[in-house]
Amino acid sequence: MGENTQERADHGPCSQPRRLLGCSLFALFTLSLIYFIFYSSPSSFSSYVDLFDQFKTQRAAKNTSLPPPQAWLQCDYSDGKWVWDDSVTGPRYDSENCDMKSTEKCVINGKPDKGYLHWRWQPAGCNLSALDPAGFLRLVRGKRLAFVGDSTARNQAEALVCYLSTVARPETVHRYEERLGRKFWQWVFPAPHSVNVSTYWSPLLVRAEGHSEDYAMTQEAVILDSLTEPWTVDVDAMDIMVISVGHWFLRPGHVLRGRGGRRRLHRPDINKTDIGYLGVYRKVIRRTLEYINFNSTGDKLVAVATIAPGHFDTKHSWNHRDACSRTKPYEDGEAEVAAADAELRKVVLEEVAAAAARRQRWGVRFEALDVTRLATMRPDGHPGPYLFAHSYDWRPVPETVANDCLHWCAPGLVDTFNDMLAKMIVAGG
Ligand SMILES: *[C@@H]1O[C@H](CO)[C@@H](O)[C@H](O)[C@H]1NC(C)=O
Ligand SMILES: *[C@@H]1O[C@H](CO)[C@@H](O)[C@H](O)[C@H]1NC(C)=O
Ligand SMILES: *[C@@H]1O[C@H](CO)[C@@H](O)[C@H](O)[C@H]1NC(C)=O
Ligand SMILES: *[C@@H]1O[C@H](CO)[C@@H](O)[C@H](O)[C@H]1NC(C)=O
Ligand SMILES: *[C@@H]1O[C@H](CO)[C@@H](O)[C@H](O)[C@H]1NC(C)=O
Repeated sequence: MGENTQERADHGPCSQPRRLLGCSLFALFTLSLIYFIFYSSPSSFSSYVDLFDQFKTQRAAKNTSLPPPQAWLQCDYSDGKWVWDDSVTGPRYDSENCDMKSTEKCVINGKPDKGYLHWRWQPAGCNLSALDPAGFLRLVRGKRLAFVGDSTARNQAEALVCYLSTVARPETVHRYEERLGRKFWQWVFPAPHSVNVSTYWSPLLVRAEGHSEDYAMTQEAVILDSLTEPWTVDVDAMDIMVISVGHWFLRPGHVLRGRGGRRRLHRPDINKTDIGYLGVYRKVIRRTLEYINFNSTGDKLVAVATIAPGHFDTKHSWNHRDACSRTKPYEDGEAEVAAADAELRKVVLEEVAAAAARRQRWGVRFEALDVTRLATMRPDGHPGPYLFAHSYDWRPVPETVANDCLHWCAPGLVDTFNDMLAKMIVAGG
């Protein structure tokens, strides 16, 4: 499969000039200039109410002396600051020879500022060391890691695979790109490691028809009750599962319940505290974690990433060369987590805690990979206009360009997500 096809199938919403309309829409959403509010009357979710009554009954009958949720982590990695680290002498790994989306290879693409490689996340109450690739492969020997969600899930998976590639050569065993809904990659680190890393394209986690399956369609129909996504079939074959979704819930669309009647949800007039996209997000996360809790066997770590916001500078349009041209993290107090991101983050924290409290087996752990704050502070971490090899080596960047101010350069701060993931895995023993 040629690079072109691959790029087209990739979904950096703003990496394709052709996708101008969808992209400007997306940028607008990201900028929160326009809110498309999704609405559904609570009755359309009655099946959930039934489901939860059922769960409550089941739960009462179970052994409730499981350890409290979130008790595994020794430290809160989510709060802290970025500090310049002089000991960093270069990129963690060489993305050139690595099987990853080329738009994230900022070093090769010639992003002129290299400062983004030097910042280290310093949690407030402890230290977070970089994961050690050889140690990590030992830790997860024989295990299957799966990254499920949108392109941010894949961004993180690729960063991990590339970093591990510095000590062991992976084989790319699956590379399905043909149909969006089936998009699935798998890398294998052969024996003695026997570690599999997969990515499942499922930007809404539940079944959806529309843009997430076919970019030619602008609308999305999200079918809330339908967990028929390819990842659900494989959930037993995942020892470590990272779920990363959020950005697609801000797109316009319909939300449908079950296989039955359609209900149009695009209602700009309604009260945002009503179900809105946040309500949809919550129900989907809840549904997903319940499915894993009740329908999977074996030991499992389920880490749900909180939203990592993009940084389209509101002073410019999304396709202006300075849409994300900052070269430094925000200073303390210079930027706060946006209210909309804080709400999305809160949904994940609450639903993960709820799933952990309803935990059915000792072997299953639910954790939040809480990256919202550390990502918010890093407007300098995106590829921006440097989307292809040697993008502008000898030329000035034109004023109007395709920009990616949503995904993260790799190597870059996305590696910190994996450092945190490694700590979670260790904490679980
Ligand atoms: C519940 O499980 C824990 C750990 O497996 C066990 O120590 C405890 O005795 C169990 N309690 C009941 C009531 O079964
Ligand atoms: C963090 O690292 C610094 C410098 O290496 C050290 O002085 C400090 O004790 C460490 N803190 C913790 C909580 O381990
Ligand atoms: C990893 O994937 C390969 C290829 O799909 C498969 O043959 C192997 O059994 C998998 N390993 C594990 C531990 O599941
Ligand atoms: C918005 O909806 C919430 C919950 O339904 C309600 O409590 C609140 O009063 C509403 N606010 C407005 C301005 O309508
Ligand atoms: C478990 O899986 C079955 C079959 O796919 C499905 O009908 C059921 O709703 C699932 N249970 C939960 C709690 O998701």
